[in-house]
Amino acid sequence: MPVIVVVGGQWGDEGKGRVVDLLAQKAHIVARYSAGNNAGHTVVNEMGEFRLHLVPAGIFYPDKVCVIGNGLVVDPAVLLAEIEDLESRGVSVRGRLSLSERAQVLMPWHPLIDRLDEELRGKGAIGTTGRGVGPAFADKVGRAGLRVADLLDRESLLQCLSFLVPYKNAILEKLYGAEPLSLERVHAEYADYGSRLAPFVTDVAGLVQKTLAQGDTVLLEGAQGALLDLDAGTYEYVTSSVPSSLAGGAAIGIGIGPTQIDFVLGVYKAYNTRVGNGPMPTELTDETGDLLREGGPRPEYGATTGRPRRCGWFDAVAAHYTARINGVTAVALTRLDVLDQLPTIKMCTTYQLDGERTDSLPASGAALFRAKPIYEELAGWREDTSGVRRFQDLPENARAYVRRIEDLLGAPVHLVSVGPEREQAIPIKPIL
Ligand code: IMP
Repeated sequence: MPVIVVVGGQWGDEGKGRVVDLLAQKAHIVARYSAGNNAGHTVVNEMGEFRLHLVPAGIFYPDKVCVIGNGLVVDPAVLLAEIEDLESRGVSVRGRLSLSERAQVLMPWHPLIDRLDEELRGKGAIGTTGRGVGPAFADKVGRAGLRVADLLDRESLLQCLSFLVPYKNAILEKLYGAEPLSLERVHAEYADYGSRLAPFVTDVAGLVQKTLAQGDTVLLEGAQGALLDLDAGTYEYVTSSVPSSLAGGAAIGIGIGPTQIDFVLGVYKAYNTRVGNGPMPTELTDETGDLLREGGPRPEYGATTGRPRRCGWFDAVAAHYTARINGVTAVALTRLDVLDQLPTIKMCTTYQLDGERTDSLPASGAALFRAKPIYEELAGWREDTSGVRRFQDLPENARAYVRRIEDLLGAPVHLVSVGPEREQAIPIKPIL
């Protein structure tokens, strides 16, 4: 099974990092193909707890090659700090991490514009992570971005910046009333990043193609979730990655063709969470919502910003939609243990919208804000599942819950996780 894509089926934070960490054992390359350091993956292993924002989760296996594809925007300061942190905690990075020469570079004006733009939007703010990723992708599409390759040549970098810095300063000063940036300082800082990142810079598409030609496995790690996708998600409360983190974006973001993808693993949490603003029909603002947030071994707070995640019941209308648009072949269902204490568990199977029932996700954000969830109620199991390792050992009601999700998604569940540790996983069917 040479190319596997792991995608999030909700609003991100589904546990893709822990699933990739498990699957990475059998892959040769583990790659990120989209987004930037707005993403945050938490991995817990024998070396401790790690939060990765740019480096793929395969880095903890010393024999894996980790790749940052052309589809990312990379904040050089963040990447260098992440490399330093990993190395200082005993994780080898050099010689195993490849950065695409075609990845976009996050520039100092991007986080500024991200925050200033959110202020301008006022009540309609997106609730971004504030990392500048949206403005950096806007510049990529607007042909006003820089690629990693551009950092490697001081002279041509200066030429690019001689246009970009005054151009961005005009926007900062005239639109936002903010302070301008110094061309000399930006040039010196980014030329320095270029020389420090140079050892990692690679023709990533060539590397991936060579690996596939040898018959080795490539694991492509999506960021965020399908409901945050620019095309498919709950626009305008979405992230701005181009290519998207949907499975279709994986081919573009790493440099392969769509026919080279063999398997799409959709990761879904056993309930729903969302960070940031925007519609979320099954959100719970009561004590059950608090229990979902605080009840698990790792409470629900954003890995990047630390913001409390909004929590709610599993939304099967949205989940069915995201399984289809990703062409999900198999499902990994995470955090089942968080539901252990609940007497009953609800699952949204239809929306009530303007007096009618619908089982499709409305394209209009305003309509989704009005959609009311219609729930199916399932009996809880009120037993600790965190020590279970075989599907047949789960309580009957927990198995029924998993099977119901499988029915509603129309894709088989291959893996269930019942805790953050590597071994707290229940394989149902093989993935690799
Ligand atoms: P941005 O990607 O920082 O522009 O934020 C846009 C939206 O995506 C906001 O609602 C963020 O909270 C959300 N978002 C971005 N990255 C992640 C992630 O890794 N997990 C969950 N939500 C995210």
